[in-house]
Amino acid sequence: MLSKAANQVCRLQRIRAAASVSTRQASTIADGFLGAIGNTPLIKLQNISAETGCNVYGKAEFMNPGGSVKDRAALGLLQAAEAAGQLKAGGTIVEGTAGNTGIGLAHCAAARGYKCVIYMPDTQSSEKMDLLRMLGADVRPVPAVPLDDPMNYNHQAKRFAESLDNAVWTNQFDNTANRDAHFATTGPEIWEQTQGKIDAFTCATGTGGTLAGVAQYLKVQNEGVRIFLADPPGSVLHSFVQRGVLEREGSSITEGIGQGRITENLKDAQIDDSVRIEDPRTVAMMFRLLKDEGLFLGASTCLNVVAARDVAAKLGPGHTVVTVLCDGAGRYASRLFSKSWLQSKELFDAVPEDCKHLVSLR
Ligand SMILES: Cc1ncc(COP(=O)(O)O)c(C=O)c1O
Repeated sequence: MLSKAANQVCRLQRIRAAASVSTRQASTIADGFLGAIGNTPLIKLQNISAETGCNVYGKAEFMNPGGSVKDRAALGLLQAAEAAGQLKAGGTIVEGTAGNTGIGLAHCAAARGYKCVIYMPDTQSSEKMDLLRMLGADVRPVPAVPLDDPMNYNHQAKRFAESLDNAVWTNQFDNTANRDAHFATTGPEIWEQTQGKIDAFTCATGTGGTLAGVAQYLKVQNEGVRIFLADPPGSVLHSFVQRGVLEREGSSITEGIGQGRITENLKDAQIDDSVRIEDPRTVAMMFRLLKDEGLFLGASTCLNVVAARDVAAKLGPGHTVVTVLCDGAGRYASRLFSKSWLQSKELFDAVPEDCKHLVSLR
């Protein structure tokens, strides 16, 4: 006769075996919001792996506590400001951001007792602006103008921080504490999770912090790991990697990625090659990930996954390719799941036939 406790252990083993999925170890207690950032799972993308004969993995950054890869940058920027003595109790964090860095900063600011002011281009999704406001940030949408215009959101953020006492402009684009956060955490996690069996890494860039930091760490471990920059139309980086010139062509619906210059975070980044991904492929991938893999992910992620598939196809079967699953699609639902919005961008035809019913008539 088994004891009650032994019975429960047997039951647990039966349930786990029947589920036939491994149970992730919940290893430690996280120290508040800040301590819960990072250590995200690496997800094998089953269909894309089967299609290419490769292991195609996505780093599940949408599982960070603030919901995106930018939580890591926010933490790195905040810790650097505190270490440099730029922020004292009750101080203000000011940033220019397309949204996700602001969301990470707003969470961190609340957790550490700071105020948070966010300047953002008014072209960004209403979901991101609403969330920032709910998190207590002072959100200031400003017209989307080029960087050489003094009214660009970044310049406005800098000027506002300079006008306050006990405030810091975290400057995510050119503050290399952003890249260093990925060098210190995302890179090592990917290396450990793949047990060093990784042939290529690819992702798109906004600030370039993720790509440059991860690349730097992986190349230290093994110079042979190939780094592919993934670029949307409207960004100058693909032409820079291919031909050494900054050329802009077209535009993209993706948010948070695409760049018009070489940021400090991207300077000296060890990039071997690049791929350019058009919006119809990104949109089609969004629905394929949803329908075939059960993953509800934003457009920059879907561009990353198309890039990972292209890289896997280029390398051939038997290789391991890693990319980044940046954030969830919920932040963009009013656009990406709206028929009229997709039609206005000439992207409705890109929605696969078996997914068209998922798009509302809004
Ligand atoms: C949704 C999304 N994907 C990707 C990125 C790019 O990351 P990084 O700034 O590290 O290049 C961002 C940056 O804001 C983002 O918001």
